[in-house]
Amino acid sequence: MSITFDRASNLFQLNTKSTSYLIGIADDQYIGHIYYGRKLDNCQGCYELLRTEERPFVPSKNQRDKSAFGDCFPYEYSTVGVGDYRESCLSVRTPQGHRVCELVYTGHEIFDGKPELPGLPSVFAKEGDQAQTLEITCEDAQIGLKAVLRYSVFEDADAVVRSVLLENTGSGPLYIERVLSACMDLDDESFEMLTLTGSWGRERHITKCPLTYGKHAASSTRGCSSHQEHPFAALVTPGTTQDTGEVYAMHFVYSGNFLALCQKSQHDSVRMVMGIHPEGFEWVLKPGATFQAPEVVCVYSDQGLGKMSHTFHDLYRGHLIRSPYLHKKRPVLINNWEATYFDFDADKLVEIAKDAKEAGIEMLVMDDGWFGRRNRDDRSLGDWTVNEEKLPGGLSAMVERVRGEGLAFGIWFEPEMVSPDSDLYRAHPDWAIQVPGRTPAQSRAQYVLDLSRPEVVDYVYACVAGILRSADISYVKWDMNRQFTDLGSMALLPEHQGELAHRYILGVYELQERLITEFPDLLLENCASGGGRFDPGMFYYSPQIWCSDDTDAVERLAIQEGTALLYPLSCIGAHVSACPNHIVGRNTPFATRGNVALAGTFGYELDITRLSADEKEQVRQQVELYHRYNHLVQEGVYYRIASWQENHLYDCWEVAAEDKSEAAVTYVQVLSGVNVRSRKIRLKGLDEGALYRLEGTDQVYSGQVLMYGGVLVKMEEGDFVSRVMHFVRV
Ligand code: GLA
Repeated sequence: MSITFDRASNLFQLNTKSTSYLIGIADDQYIGHIYYGRKLDNCQGCYELLRTEERPFVPSKNQRDKSAFGDCFPYEYSTVGVGDYRESCLSVRTPQGHRVCELVYTGHEIFDGKPELPGLPSVFAKEGDQAQTLEITCEDAQIGLKAVLRYSVFEDADAVVRSVLLENTGSGPLYIERVLSACMDLDDESFEMLTLTGSWGRERHITKCPLTYGKHAASSTRGCSSHQEHPFAALVTPGTTQDTGEVYAMHFVYSGNFLALCQKSQHDSVRMVMGIHPEGFEWVLKPGATFQAPEVVCVYSDQGLGKMSHTFHDLYRGHLIRSPYLHKKRPVLINNWEATYFDFDADKLVEIAKDAKEAGIEMLVMDDGWFGRRNRDDRSLGDWTVNEEKLPGGLSAMVERVRGEGLAFGIWFEPEMVSPDSDLYRAHPDWAIQVPGRTPAQSRAQYVLDLSRPEVVDYVYACVAGILRSADISYVKWDMNRQFTDLGSMALLPEHQGELAHRYILGVYELQERLITEFPDLLLENCASGGGRFDPGMFYYSPQIWCSDDTDAVERLAIQEGTALLYPLSCIGAHVSACPNHIVGRNTPFATRGNVALAGTFGYELDITRLSADEKEQVRQQVELYHRYNHLVQEGVYYRIASWQENHLYDCWEVAAEDKSEAAVTYVQVLSGVNVRSRKIRLKGLDEGALYRLEGTDQVYSGQVLMYGGVLVKMEEGDFVSRVMHFVRV
């Protein structure tokens, strides 16, 4: 049993393979957090950690200081108005305008498996998995609110997944102003807060700051999880490395506005919360209605960031990504965006396809510009009809020509948007998100479609599905290129306007669910101006997401390092592009661009017809490398060996087979140096007692030497030089 309840001590114990999560009920009413950490085989004495025997004591012993109790009790789920002045998870307004809410324990249920969350992405359990769920019910009878705190325990995957369901049990409406999904109160251990931050073209850089008194947040109110911040936070003990230190992490399975906040309080306790961002949010809960908040994955590691990464990778590969492509080799693709931008026609694409085929590339993806009058980025979004001037004979003729060259065909859509200059907008101006009487701000000359409206969702689906039904299309790149402003729906009643951002995301999820249901063999890649909606929510629908519009091999080192902190490499869309790089103008060796892109889904984003014979030969060799190493990238165990972000000289990562039979190590010397000797690179995850040959040489090393001594890597002349070393057990 992963979950047990001891009635005598009012204690819930949730166990995974190597962690325990303990919850206690104080005064038979208040649900408190006791412990999250290393697995405890025996919990004797742990109830004391709730501190109910210390001042200010529980209300049954000291009613006169109940508010002081509220301000220090480690609530499993905090609410407003009862003395807990720390960050709250729940704020509900009554029709009378009050917000006071006190949730007290009324019951619980423990059962096998894990329920899905209707309309939302969620981590799932498979038959035979050791997943169990605890639902603790608590209520505020005064306002007629029931909350179900749900904890699903994935014993083997070592994670606890939390969510909250609210139900209006009263006779009048309730207005939910804030409903976060998880809360955890810990004692301060001089934590640092680790987040992933960035910008367009610079997504998910690892950022650490000391957690001092006050509140520190990562958040998005942009309508998507965003390039700028990531729905993730971790508290780490000082000096945490890849292999040592304690890590408490939360990751939100959601793609819209979020808040991840850590607070150090007056009592030196630390609270970490995560959920839908309350700014602009309000949900009307009618009598009898329920609201399901999205879920948060909680991971604890006592062996540094490496173990945390492995837990997330395994959980997402085993229990989140549903695509049949998860364990399939993805086709090596070539995308024409950076090759042609809007300036292409069928003949140009076929030219690219021919050369691509010769180099071993397997799929051509036709990016933006194939529909309506889309010869520039300021028009035609929403008009999903093929531009026959560019593609004479229509889409099926185009696809046939590319297939005739021996390549599969993929296509780009940006279905959630509308250009002001489009037939769709002229016909349905009210379908754009806007506030009546205000001209909405454009971004990339486009508006956001109001996906809270079922008729808009239906229209969008009909467009995308109609195109897919019309030709033999193997892959879709689903893009989303602007963030929200002017939040207003022309269809929602005034009291429901605060629901728009969440209803929008539910609309996106519905669209993608319909798509993968009707086209189960489709390879779906999500994208949002690069990695602007790269989050666990979207991975429920697509096995890979375009990681960043910045394809420069050096910029990608930090982006891919931060991304791989949480996501398996097989999720990370990575391509080789031309130099000078279109975004940063940097020249890097072709081989290094390949080696960096090989740590992802792999493909090309350039005009192959313009490459020199030597570069074309390199493409052929890179495709060979892809076939040689992809099983490791896809299924192997990822180890971060060194970070250029930290040492400012070189980057290094490894993917090892789970059975330790082989490992591929990528080393990138970002900057050369003067009078620097060779460097020892220590590998991980090998068999100590085995011998390994470095492929392409006669050099044989023991696993122990590779792991504890290291392998020597020579300093090379020049910047951005890289190599992949493949060690195979002999
Ligand atoms: C976004 C994507 C790019 C490309 C363009 C097309 O920026 O991230 O890869 O598809 O849109 O407009």
